[in-house]
Amino acid sequence: MNRRELLCRLAAVGTASLLPTLGAHAGEADPSESWQAQFDASTAPWKPAFATPPGDLPLTAAKVRGRFPDAVAGTLFRIGPAGHDLGGQRYRHWFDGDGMAHRFMIEGTAVHHQGRYVETAKRTAEVRVGRRLTEGFGTVFPSFAPVSAPDQMNTANISVQPLGGELLALWEGGSATRLDMRSLESRGLKTWRPDLAGVPFSAHPKVDPDGTVWNFGVSSRNSLLVIYEIAPDGALRRADALPVADLPMIHDFAVTTRFLVFLMPPFVFDAKRKEAGASFLDAHVWRPELGMRALIVDKKDWKRQQMLTLPPGFLFHLGNAWEEERAGGTVIHVDYVRSADASSILGSTREVMRGRLVRGPAPRLTLASLDLGAGKATQVAWPVDAEFPRMDPRLVGLRHRHVFHATQLLGATPLWGAIARTDIESGASQRYSYGGQSLVEEHLFVPDGKGPGWVVGTVIDTVQKKTVLSCFAADALADGPVAQATLPYALPLGLHGSFIAA
Ligand SMILES: [Fe+2]
Repeated sequence: MNRRELLCRLAAVGTASLLPTLGAHAGEADPSESWQAQFDASTAPWKPAFATPPGDLPLTAAKVRGRFPDAVAGTLFRIGPAGHDLGGQRYRHWFDGDGMAHRFMIEGTAVHHQGRYVETAKRTAEVRVGRRLTEGFGTVFPSFAPVSAPDQMNTANISVQPLGGELLALWEGGSATRLDMRSLESRGLKTWRPDLAGVPFSAHPKVDPDGTVWNFGVSSRNSLLVIYEIAPDGALRRADALPVADLPMIHDFAVTTRFLVFLMPPFVFDAKRKEAGASFLDAHVWRPELGMRALIVDKKDWKRQQMLTLPPGFLFHLGNAWEEERAGGTVIHVDYVRSADASSILGSTREVMRGRLVRGPAPRLTLASLDLGAGKATQVAWPVDAEFPRMDPRLVGLRHRHVFHATQLLGATPLWGAIARTDIESGASQRYSYGGQSLVEEHLFVPDGKGPGWVVGTVIDTVQKKTVLSCFAADALADGPVAQATLPYALPLGLHGSFIAA
């Protein structure tokens, strides 16, 4: 099978893998009503984090305390699930909601915010009729119409990536959505090449120091891993689909100078479950006998691959990876956030949608070493709970020391109370706690040529019911923020962001 035949097959498979079976859902008669009622009745203080803004949020000035440093003058773009309920139907998973893109424009003592729903085909059609029409990542209702292409359920709600003069709103089961950087207006789906229309494009592309962008996509049913190499100007250089046996859910990856690194948790798609009416999420099966496989792909020749195995575990995110040359060959060091199993995605991030907290194993910052010469993989997990790891973007694929991440679980994921900087090689960590009343979102590292750099990120203050943007000196998190901007409202708890300097 040549490359083009494989990609054609993948596009068709991408469709089939998401096809629900009409009427086959074995759930309650109308589960949407009960989840909406339970959420409405909840008195959880963190409830505003999962509320649905009724519409777009126009440009609004924040109240600023202190002064944001010159190096963070620019725009912080963020995105996350925001449209959780519609017409009395409430989604049953945090990751289902319609994406809302945000931009925080930062300049000294002034910060302005704008929020805008991504006008996906799904949201547009559903808002028009006032109810949900198609399934989500973790929700299937009996009334849903069958899906004939992944982008029919694309919610553009995971991350944003500036590329080629526009902002891409990223999902992972289908296409990226193009947004206007200045207005956040939706400009339609991104098609990298005609034969790649609708092919999955993940939410965690990686940018090499030379500007080359790498990404992947997972087509679950046929176990095909798509790889993309994109030039700094946004032009596609190469894309292809690689068959991988028992290909699991893969949310993120890492790159080194010479390799692409995929950590594959044993959370594997089962087509029979999907055909029986399960949601895409619930069609996945925990298969610990597979271990956590580490697939290493040569950047230059994607057919050159090596597979190593770590103990079974689950992850959403990696921090970074880099190569070390030893007498016995290359060792790849990769840090990631490891959980013992997939219970967070199956439980915690689902139950918050009806106002409940379900505890699962705490995700730990973990450093794995992949010895390509010996074919052996080892790891050390630091006693530091973590999510949303970010690092200096200038060091992607190179040796780094510090990861910035959310920490201090407030009961259960996805509720975090502090931001930390952890030395990935020693496990030493310093943190700033927001005081237990604020829910921490992803914080980004912003380089500053004059010093150690800055950390910028948002929290939801659940007492004030307001979203607060903070800036810290990167080497002195514990000293607290040097500047803060408070919006007159709380935004829904979001996922990832990207900063562009002015
Ligand atoms: Fe993510």
